[in-house]
Amino acid sequence: MSYARIIGSGAYLPSRVVSNDELAAELATRQIETSDSWIVERTGIKQRHIAAPEEKTSLLATRAARAALDDAGVAADEIDLIIVATSTPDFVFPSTACLVQAGLGIKGGAAFDVQAVCSGFVYALATADAFIQAKRARVALVIGAEVFSSILDWNDRGTCVLFGDGAGAVVLKASDEPGIIGARLNADGSQMNILCAAGNVAHGKVVGDPFLRMDGQAVFKLAVTALTRSARDVCIEAGVALTDIDWLVPHQANVRILNFLSKRLGIPDEKVIITLDKHANTSAASVPLALDVARRDGRIKPGHLVLMQGVGGGFTWGSILARM
Ligand code: ACO
Repeated sequence: MSYARIIGSGAYLPSRVVSNDELAAELATRQIETSDSWIVERTGIKQRHIAAPEEKTSLLATRAARAALDDAGVAADEIDLIIVATSTPDFVFPSTACLVQAGLGIKGGAAFDVQAVCSGFVYALATADAFIQAKRARVALVIGAEVFSSILDWNDRGTCVLFGDGAGAVVLKASDEPGIIGARLNADGSQMNILCAAGNVAHGKVVGDPFLRMDGQAVFKLAVTALTRSARDVCIEAGVALTDIDWLVPHQANVRILNFLSKRLGIPDEKVIITLDKHANTSAASVPLALDVARRDGRIKPGHLVLMQGVGGGFTWGSILARM
């Protein structure tokens, strides 16, 4: 049996940090009212990183990938699969994964993007795991990277305060020892309207609405229900109990969602990795960013059982159980 193990992780965050107070002051110049206290109380977010105009998704992704390769002690030319999860690609095509491959100075392996919005990293990790188990790849780079600031309507205070930019990456390698031991992916396309950026470019013009739109309360309810069921299902599939989990690394959308989730699953708050106070919601990047923070600060150690969960537009959701 060939397993896929996470052998390294890395992250990249744009250098510009915007606090809630700074954002509130900027919005106030356009008569849009918000405050640090509203944002912290409703979401847990205190600040976000915002990319400069030249910092595209592929640049963030390539920098996170380099950090992950360094951490894993793997040379770029050992990589035979690159999957980038993103909803904010540089181009319609080529894929961001191909741009990352070129940025790393390698060629020949497979490279493609996965689009499942905030569930994207979990979808990409499950895909890379399947490639490695099927012996179609041996060493994979799996990256979540987003510049969500580029699709926000900065006049909509209900959404523009929630998101940030960034990238996280892991190196996944074939192993005889168990690594990823469970994966569940789900979608319900009938809920497409509760969270979408329903625009595109056609015939040289923007068609539809290119900005992110969200029914926050509908997303909140679905996220808690979907993630609770998904966590239980992936544990049953892997033959482990929820109480065996050392760390929950959930998509960082809203601290209230995470509090509801941990309570429902009976996972103590101390076992939940939370980075959204510093990063805000970075969509597909949020899970690998949080994983990298907790690996580097020593909370997540080799041998620990980690449950990673994503949920987002589509509507999509999923869980990965990994022995580190
Ligand atoms: N600052 C101040 N007031 C605001 C702001 C803001 N930034 N945004 C909205 N308000 C106001 C609203 O206008 C409304 O005012 P009103 O009562 O006068 O009409 C009031 O605050 C309450 O608005 P609600 O939308 O009902 O606020 P709610 O408590 O639902 O919080 C939130 C909104 C934070 C978005 C919440 O619904 C939520 O967390 N939903 C989960 C969705 C989420 O986290 N999405 C992230 C992306 S999706 C994903 O990653 C899965």
